[in-house]
Amino acid sequence: MAMASDYTHPDVGNDEPPTNHTGNQTFSEIVQTRLSRRTIVAGGATAVVGAMLDASRADALGLFKKGPAAAEPGFQAVSVYNGDGVIVPPGYTARPFLPMGEVIIGDDVGNPAANTVQAFENASGADMENRMGSHHDGIHFFPLPDDPNGHGILCVNHEYIDPYKTFPEGDYVTSGTRPADQVRKGIAAHGVSVVEIQRNSEGEWNPVTTGGYNRKVTGETRCELRGPVRGSSLVQTKYSPEGTHTRGTLNNCGHGTTPWNTYLTAEENWASYFAAGEGASRREYLRVGVEAASSRYGWDMADGEPTASESNPDPYLRFNAAPTGDSATDDYRNEPNCQGWITEIDPLDPASTPIKHTAMGRFAHEGCVYAPVQKGRPVVFYSGDDAQNQYIYKFVTKDPFLTGSGSELLDEGTLYVAKFHDDGTGEWLALDIEDAGFQAKMAAAAADPASVWPDGHYSDFDGFVDQADVLVNTRLAADVVGATPMDRPEWLAVHPKTREVYCALTNNSQRGGETTNAERPILAPVDEANPRAASQFGHIIRWRERGNRPWTLNFRWDIFVLAGPIDDSDDLNGSALDPTNIFASPDGIWIDDNGRLWIQTDKGTGQQVTETYRFGNNQMLCADPETGEIKRFFVGCRGQETTGVIMTPDSRTMFINLQHPGEGSESNPTLVSTYPDGPGSGSRGRSTTIIITKDDGGVIGT
Ligand code: FEO
Ligand code: CA
Ligand code: CA
Ligand code: CA
Repeated sequence: MAMASDYTHPDVGNDEPPTNHTGNQTFSEIVQTRLSRRTIVAGGATAVVGAMLDASRADALGLFKKGPAAAEPGFQAVSVYNGDGVIVPPGYTARPFLPMGEVIIGDDVGNPAANTVQAFENASGADMENRMGSHHDGIHFFPLPDDPNGHGILCVNHEYIDPYKTFPEGDYVTSGTRPADQVRKGIAAHGVSVVEIQRNSEGEWNPVTTGGYNRKVTGETRCELRGPVRGSSLVQTKYSPEGTHTRGTLNNCGHGTTPWNTYLTAEENWASYFAAGEGASRREYLRVGVEAASSRYGWDMADGEPTASESNPDPYLRFNAAPTGDSATDDYRNEPNCQGWITEIDPLDPASTPIKHTAMGRFAHEGCVYAPVQKGRPVVFYSGDDAQNQYIYKFVTKDPFLTGSGSELLDEGTLYVAKFHDDGTGEWLALDIEDAGFQAKMAAAAADPASVWPDGHYSDFDGFVDQADVLVNTRLAADVVGATPMDRPEWLAVHPKTREVYCALTNNSQRGGETTNAERPILAPVDEANPRAASQFGHIIRWRERGNRPWTLNFRWDIFVLAGPIDDSDDLNGSALDPTNIFASPDGIWIDDNGRLWIQTDKGTGQQVTETYRFGNNQMLCADPETGEIKRFFVGCRGQETTGVIMTPDSRTMFINLQHPGEGSESNPTLVSTYPDGPGSGSRGRSTTIIITKDDGGVIGT
């Protein structure tokens, strides 16, 4: 087998890497070897064949041979665990911080009486506007200059609510007309909490209000629409007849940041918050799952609107997106088109209006991460669309990054979608109405919709009228160009030095079926990039852009790990995972400044029940991208998913989130949680941030 001993890693930080060092032939051979063996693994053959094929494969790949040497996980791996606490390696400490309902605005910050489980459950909707929201997810730490490792602003996404645990037990109204204050509290528990935090002389972190930064961006906050969709007839509403503004950011899952030090929040599963009535047949709604009736919280059925005003008309009734008026400026028929975007928040300017960046596409954004910037070059952002058989996207700004660049850089650019070829190569396909290739595919699809949607979905497809139409219908546009349906793309991470991109593909029960349905209008056969039918355990894929330039249109990819149990998994070295690192359903991933890859898991409620004992509770692992070594670092309490991870600049304080402790416990006692408040507190479990430190003050992961 040819080895890539002459393979040279693209120069780190060099804008002009030597393009003749890409070693195409060798790399392809290696990928082929790995792919064929992975197919064998997926087919259930024994590991012996794999071992023969694999002898020097990881070394031959050599992806990180010039990477940072300190990336190996240096701690003692923790075991699988299914108790109701949290566990970390010896020498580490984990403590809860800023749980759902903690007061972050006003005089009650730090007041123990205002921060009990009961105080939170009994809090009114108005009170909730001053408290940490629910379902913590993406998280970022913005250091403040006076003490960057001990003082900063934490931004925390709040994805959704478990309404049974948002109100006192038994109070939640589950159907019909909804009490307006319950709606207010639910909306206030969504969005993003912006909270200044400071470490005291005992090393303990607390929320503070000294800088005036603390803020809630909720499901009702005024937001500006920017980019090609701004002003489109597709986003005109009674609230904004010009189609320039909207209210609220919803279902805020993963996050991102920008090179100009702002926060990005990703709107993921927002579709079911709306009731579109007879408008539900619109393609803008069909392809993303907006239905005739809201299946979520019934906000469209509030029995009043206490927050309404002349400048804030119909704040709850707007969730009724049926065409009830004479035109779009008389009702909220377009309201669902105002969700599904990447929304930018400036945490350092509490008076700033959040910006929805429509050029980056509308779908179930899991998160958004940028590749290391180079002055004079475009900035590249990656985002996954987390639903079964959806796609991976990247956005390349039109203008280059320069000193002083800011959010206007996101107003114009090209959105691309990924196509993975079975030979280990891939390409980025433009979703751009000005692009000749796109136009040709659009025309072909309009002439014969069944060539794209074989079972008759979108049989009336007649193309897109403008770029706003393309972007509002991003999934349809990606269908048209033939993007590769993936196994639920969750978080992406870019190595800060090598620029290699990693993407967690969490699982996909609908891979390999021979028919389509309304939610899955595209066939998704098993392919090399998604090698398992009905994938239960997920995998992590990675790629390298051509010439190591993030804005180029070709890449080469590889599978970093096939997650799963001891008898159905495969790490970078061709070995099965073992008791120190088996995991299922990777979701949050991040590569820290030292080059360690952090992997967080989200086995959904069903898998938590069926797999409580084999994989334990949801967890976080630490991997070395160079060697492929993976070790379990953290396991959380029952019923939660582990999601969101960031550190202070010195890498000595880590913040992660536990989302929905106790979820699913209504129907399964093995998922009952009282975390973080503990038995006897009356808690039914609540989402919380966790702070992890090393007892000797060292770098996390060593
Ligand atoms: Fe919000 Fe796909 O996790
Ligand atoms: Ca997630
Ligand atoms: Ca998930
Ligand atoms: Ca979740």
